[in-house]
Amino acid sequence: MGYKIAVVGATGNVGREMLNILAERQFPVDEIAALASRRSLGTEVSFGDATLKTRDLEQFDFSGWDIALFAIGSDATKEYAPKAAKAGCVVIDNSSLYRYDPDVPLIVPEVNPDAITGHSKKNIIANPNCSTAQMVVALKPLHDRARIKRVVVSTYQSVSGSGKEAIDELWNQTKGMYVPGQEVAPNVYPKQIAFNVIPHIDVFLEDGSTKEEWKMVAETKKIVDPSIKVTATCVRVPVFVGHSEAINIEFEEFLDEDEARDILREAPGIMVVDKREPGGYITPVECVGDFATYISRIRQDSTIENGINLWCVSDNLRKGAALNAVQIAELLGQRVLKKG
Ligand SMILES: NC(=O)c1ccc[n+]([C@@H]2O[C@H](COP(=O)([O-])OP(=O)(O)OC[C@H]3O[C@@H](n4cnc5c(N)ncnc54)[C@H](OP(=O)(O)O)[C@@H]3O)[C@@H](O)[C@H]2O)c1
Repeated sequence: MGYKIAVVGATGNVGREMLNILAERQFPVDEIAALASRRSLGTEVSFGDATLKTRDLEQFDFSGWDIALFAIGSDATKEYAPKAAKAGCVVIDNSSLYRYDPDVPLIVPEVNPDAITGHSKKNIIANPNCSTAQMVVALKPLHDRARIKRVVVSTYQSVSGSGKEAIDELWNQTKGMYVPGQEVAPNVYPKQIAFNVIPHIDVFLEDGSTKEEWKMVAETKKIVDPSIKVTATCVRVPVFVGHSEAINIEFEEFLDEDEARDILREAPGIMVVDKREPGGYITPVECVGDFATYISRIRQDSTIENGINLWCVSDNLRKGAALNAVQIAELLGQRVLKKG
């Protein structure tokens, strides 16, 4: 016996990846529903070799369904997630709506799987922000060995993190640069994204940081350890898929770069590619479609007592969203629902 699974936002970037990953990982599915807005009624989406017709979320009754993987914006999530949860269906949500709610666990299965027990308070589990998810997979095994005091991270985030319209904007703006009369003005982003970088993701906060930067701080504390200090600069770059991060970590104890490399090689969800030669590292185009978070450029930071620098790359639609959500569903199945 398997599960009845609803994928909410099935026509979006994350929703389509959720369907792909459920099929790739052979999640024990008895029945699957692809849901989106009424605009997409009847739109076909792939689930392995099958084709599903998208149904209208507004008309859907979640009673009798086991798990709903939500990948729609926070506003629509606010309306529909409580309905699904109330109907007895466990919601695994990709939006930021519930991430900081003390009654909702925020889970990266390689890092804090035991938090799954907290799901019963609201019948909702939150999936972290894409940049946080890949970073904490790398931080956790190092923290267990040498206790992290402080993290300084700069991100290089792909446009797929802003939804399907942003992918079109980069594509059309790039083409338009070379065709007179077909220039594309910024719409999703406040400035040109083609051949440019934008040091601004999500809204500005009072202290001058952005909400995306604040998310990395708050979510790392909730998932790994509240004592870890994080300071982040989040930057959008003209890459379609794959987020990169330059991470500087200060530890309480000394950690040698070779030991750090060995620890990361053994850690779940991580692939180390770290040769000190041209091309001996991973770039975002190489991580697309993979499950792993890639770590390269591991080296001592000799400007502080106990410091390590590293480069972290992952498919933001996978580990940063859809894969992590499916891994949470697997964890829920193994530890709580126990079907299949
Ligand atoms: N992309 C990432 O890397 C990433 C990472 C982590 C979290 N997230 C979060 O995941 C969510 C989805 O992101 P995305 O990148 O997949 O966005 P997207 O490509 O723009 O897709 C949005 C999806 O939500 C559906 N939707 C929107 N409003 C709806 C409504 N009122 N009722 C029903 N369905 C509705 C859309 O359906 P229609 O096609 O019918 O409009 C579409 O399926 C967002 O909350 C985002 O913040 C994204």
